[in-house]
Amino acid sequence: MIVGVPKEIKTAENRVALVPAGAESLVGDGPSVLVEQGAGLGSGFADDAYRAVGAEITASVDDVWARAEMILKVKEPIEPEWKRVRKGQVVFTYFHFAASEPLTKAIIATGCVAIAYETVQLTTGELPLLTPMSEVAGRMAVQEGAKYLEKVFGGSGILLGGVPGVLPAEVLVIGGGVVGTNAAKMAAGLGAHVTLLDISLDRLRYLSDVLPPNVDLLYSNRHNILEQLHKADLVIGAVLLPGAKAPHLVKRADLKLMKPGSVVVDVAVDQGGCIETIKPTTHEQPTYVVDGIIHYAVANMPGGVPRTSTLALTNATFPYAKRLAKRGWKQACRDDRALFLGLNVIEGKVVYPGVAEAFGLPVADPQTLV
Ligand SMILES: NC(=O)c1ccc[n+]([C@@H]2O[C@H](COP(=O)([O-])OP(=O)(O)OC[C@H]3O[C@@H](n4cnc5c(N)ncnc54)[C@H](O)[C@@H]3O)[C@@H](O)[C@H]2O)c1
Repeated sequence: MIVGVPKEIKTAENRVALVPAGAESLVGDGPSVLVEQGAGLGSGFADDAYRAVGAEITASVDDVWARAEMILKVKEPIEPEWKRVRKGQVVFTYFHFAASEPLTKAIIATGCVAIAYETVQLTTGELPLLTPMSEVAGRMAVQEGAKYLEKVFGGSGILLGGVPGVLPAEVLVIGGGVVGTNAAKMAAGLGAHVTLLDISLDRLRYLSDVLPPNVDLLYSNRHNILEQLHKADLVIGAVLLPGAKAPHLVKRADLKLMKPGSVVVDVAVDQGGCIETIKPTTHEQPTYVVDGIIHYAVANMPGGVPRTSTLALTNATFPYAKRLAKRGWKQACRDDRALFLGLNVIEGKVVYPGVAEAFGLPVADPQTLV
């Protein structure tokens, strides 16, 4: 088995799908590892670090795609990569097929086996290969929010933690899942006063046991959101309705309730956002202002901290990649229901119902194909 790791070519994507420690472990199992020159550089891993553990470095991206039986990536293949994907080749990466019909059709046409990080799912319902990126984004939301509250960035000039004799900032977190909990922990750790809203009472009960006393937990409804907006210096949007667009819980008119120079970081922007005035931004131009409120809406926040994100992502993906390389995709998917659920397209057939539904395509039973 040859495992190939191409350099990511999507704009501003600096993550890599395999770190040298992973390469070492794969090589120890028997497979060969072929890494495109410079693939790890954006995350701080030099070619020599891969060479030192027995991986081969090639200057040719075509070489990686042509020789590898399994490709490990981070982002979905983009157009220049489509022609490189081969029939029968396993491609293990984020695909987000339902968001792109051209990508879905292109991957169907290649005849590859597409296993999507985002649909690998544990019996608890957890999506273990999405969780680490939500952890990164939740923690980063506070860091970014604190930065844009600074005067020089147009903010109201408030320090999150305050100082003795001066009250700390008020941070409102809407949604108490992975993003919201990580954001609340970071903001509370910096000394801010945090209010976290969720609609799940079970979740609020759990959070009341694990979060520090400077985090208040409140049931999420329109009345409570409006009341909190008056006080908030930083609002973090972290709501998710699985498989649906995020609800607009803060309307444009509500911004008038907030203090000028306050900051909104809507992490849920990748699902449409929970603030009505949000539209996706990039790391190059992360913010814009509406009605005096700074909006931060980077759709791929983890891309801003590729070193941490690569390590967090590969910690989660590597055990699956290792089993795929060692046992082959069919056996690995038969052995592990979570990985089986990652199967989206098998040799020209869509096997994930959500993807088939999105584009009115027939869905095949993956059970008969593994
Ligand atoms: N921008 C980025 O770079 C980036 C990175 C990672 C995740 N995300 C996005 O962040 C969002 C949150 O992800 P997550 O992993 O925390 O999801 P999650 O499923 O762990 O948590 C979502 C939470 O929202 C709560 N919720 C639902 N409706 C609500 C409402 N009306 N009011 C308050 N809470 C409500 C749910 O009960 C749940 O606890 C998703 O849209 C995800 O795609 C964005």
